[in-house]
Amino acid sequence: MKVKCTRFDLANPKPVRAFSLMAATKESDSLDSQFYKPADKFFPAYNHIGLTFDDVTLATLYSEVLPRETQLQTKLAEGLQLNIPVISADMDTVTESRMAIAMALNGGLGLVHYNMADREQLSVVSRVKNHVHGLIQEPIKATPDQLIGDILALIEKKHFAFSTFPVVDTTGKLVGLLPGHVLKQRYAKRKVAEAMTPRAQVQAINKRELGRDPITKADKFFTDHPGIHKLLVVDDQDRLHGLFTLSDIERIIQERNAQFKPARDTKFRLICGAAVSATRNAFGELDRDRILAHVGGLVERGLDVVAVSTAHGHSRGVGDAVRTLRDAFKGLPIMAGNVTSAAGVEFLADCGASIVKVGQGPGSICTTRIVAGVGIPQMTALYVASRMAQKKRVTVVADGGIAKSGDLVKALTLADAVLCGGLFAGCPEAPGEVMEFSGKLYKQYRGMGSLGAMKAGSAARYGHTLGDGGRKVAPEGVEALKEVTGSVDKVLAQLIGGIQSGMGYLSAANLGLLRENARFMRVSPAGQREAAPHDVVELKTGS
Ligand code: XMP
Repeated sequence: MKVKCTRFDLANPKPVRAFSLMAATKESDSLDSQFYKPADKFFPAYNHIGLTFDDVTLATLYSEVLPRETQLQTKLAEGLQLNIPVISADMDTVTESRMAIAMALNGGLGLVHYNMADREQLSVVSRVKNHVHGLIQEPIKATPDQLIGDILALIEKKHFAFSTFPVVDTTGKLVGLLPGHVLKQRYAKRKVAEAMTPRAQVQAINKRELGRDPITKADKFFTDHPGIHKLLVVDDQDRLHGLFTLSDIERIIQERNAQFKPARDTKFRLICGAAVSATRNAFGELDRDRILAHVGGLVERGLDVVAVSTAHGHSRGVGDAVRTLRDAFKGLPIMAGNVTSAAGVEFLADCGASIVKVGQGPGSICTTRIVAGVGIPQMTALYVASRMAQKKRVTVVADGGIAKSGDLVKALTLADAVLCGGLFAGCPEAPGEVMEFSGKLYKQYRGMGSLGAMKAGSAARYGHTLGDGGRKVAPEGVEALKEVTGSVDKVLAQLIGGIQSGMGYLSAANLGLLRENARFMRVSPAGQREAAPHDVVELKTGS
C-alpha cells in the first residue's frame, strides 16, 4: 500500500481538496459522536468515577491549522495576559527571581513562593520587575567627589554585574560617565571627577526626542555610533533621566522577533506574581494588617497578580483573605485556591478572586490524598470547576499533576492556564544546589506541605502551626529529588511544541478553539499501555 503517513499532512493545505475532505458526511458525524464526546456530554456521563489525564484521550479533527501558527495567549484577568498558558508554581524549590524572570521572558508567569521573610519577597519581586527593561530609569550613579575605591567597594558589596556609572552632581545634573576601565585598585585614591569622561564627550539624548518608540530610537543610535554601549537620557536642564545599554536593546529587538513574546506589563516590565499566606494573629484571626501592608508593598513594586495559596481554598480563612485584598486593591488580579468543587469556585469568585486554582492532591510531591483521604482526580476536578468558573466569569488554572505535554493539552481543554512545579524543579533557574548521586545530577524538590517546607514557613498553607516543632502535624507532601534538566527555555520549548501539536490535531488556532473543539474518550488500562512506547528497547526519549 502506498500511503505516505507524515505526522502533519496539514502543511500546504489545498483549499479545494481541503473543503471536500472537511465536509464530513452525516453518517461519519453521527458515528464519531457516538464515541467522541464534547466535555459537557463526556464528563457528566462519568460522574461516578474520578478521571485524570491518562484516563482520557482527545479525538482528532479535520484540520488546516499548522501547529507553529497556533496562538497561545491567555487572558487570566483584566490586565493580566500571558503569551503562553504556563505558570511556575509558588514553591520554595521552584520559583524565586531567576525562575520568574525566565518564565516571563518566555511569555509565561512565575509565582514567587512565600517561604521567606516579607522583605525578601519584596526584593525578589523588585528584581523581576526591574529586569532588563528598555530604559533603566534609575541607574546607579556616582558623584564627582567620591573615590574610585568607594565605587569598587560598592560593586563588590552589591555584586553589580556592570561597571559603568553615570556621574551626577547634587542637583542630579549629568557631569560625566565613569567607564569600567578606570575602576582599578591602582586608582582607588583618586576622585571620580579625575577619572570620568567629561560631560562634553558623553553621548546623551533629550527624553523629548525619544518619541513613541524609544527602543527603535536607541537601536538606531547604537548602529550609528559603533563602539558606544551606553546612551544616557537627560531633560532640558541636563538632569539624568535614565540609561539605555546596547545589550538590553539587542535582547529586546531579538525578543520582538520571537513567536512568543515576553509577558510584560504596560510599563514594559516583566510580569510577576507572588503568593501570600493567610496567616493568623495571636487571636486566631486573619492577620489583616500584615497581609495588607505586605501586599501593598508588593503592589508598589509592580506586582501583577497575588495568589492566596492554600491546600483548602474553600475555607473561611482564605475567603477572609481574598475579601480583604479585594476591598483594598480593587483592580489587582487575585488568584486563590485550591479547590476542586463548583461550590469552592463559586465561594472564591464571590469573595473577589479573579482566577481560581484547581487541584487537590494531583501534584507529583503531594500526599494529601494518602494522608487526608481527600482530593479529586484532576480532569474531573477541572471539568466541574471550569463550568462554575464560566458562570461566575472567573478563570481557572490547572494546578498539579502535569508530567508531560500531552497532560498540558488535556488540562487546557478545560482550564485557562496550567501551573507546574515538578516540570521546572530540575531547571538551573529553580532555587537550590545541584547534588550528585551515583553519577547523576539532581536538585531538591519538596512539597510545600512537607515537614521541611512547613518548618521553613508554609505550615499556614496546610492549616497547621508548628509550635511543638512539628511532631504533631501530618505532612501532606514529600521531600524529593528531581533529575537536573535543561534550562527553562528548553523545557518550555518542549512543552509549547506539544501544546501546539495538540492544537494542530484538534484544528484549534487558539486556546479558545481548543476548549471548544475538544472531544474526549475514556481509555482502558490496555489503551494506557498502548499510549506509551511499548515492545521496543528505548534508546532515546523525544526530549
Ligand atoms: P506538580 O505535579 O507540578 O505539582 O509537581 C505542583 C503542585 O502541587 C501542589 N503542592 C502540594 N500538594 N502537598 C500537596 O498535597 C504538598 O506538599 C504540596 N506542595 C505543593 C501545589 O498546588 C503545586 O502547585
